[in-house]
Amino acid sequence: MTSNLYTVFDCSIIYLPRIQNRAGNITPVTNLENIPFIIKRIYYLYDMPGGESRGAHAHKKLEQLVIALSGSFDITLDDGRNKKSIHLARPYMGLHMLPGMWRDINNFSSGAICLVLASELYDEKDYIREYSEFMEYKKALIQ
Ligand code: TYD
Repeated sequence: MTSNLYTVFDCSIIYLPRIQNRAGNITPVTNLENIPFIIKRIYYLYDMPGGESRGAHAHKKLEQLVIALSGSFDITLDDGRNKKSIHLARPYMGLHMLPGMWRDINNFSSGAICLVLASELYDEKDYIREYSEFMEYKKALIQ
């Protein structure tokens, strides 16, 4: 499916395995086994000041799995027609974000760590950073 056809409803929560033990838990993530793409890059957001928001962009090709490794935050997805907000608060729950979604991440709890597993290397050309440009991009793809 090309990115124009994805909607916010295709972006689902993936429940990662949890190996539970008296001494704590382990969550393994394996390419193509627990997540539907091959991880080429990992990054994480931390030390977010209270009230800050991140994101405010879309990607043309990139797929991501976003995990609240510690603490919690909200992600709002917008496919140009529909919006959906997801609260992430557990390290075994990942939001699978498909290409062509405008996203905002906000409401970070104190000490939150947002882990992102990404299907591509960093490429500024893959970003759409203006909302009006995003809407034009979506409209052009649908036609
Ligand atoms: P950006 O993806 O816009 O972050 P956010 O959406 O969380 O605000 O990235 C912020 C800056 O960091 C931008 O200048 C690009 C740089 N950056 C990298 O150099 N490599 C990376 O893998 C990422 C994710 C960002």
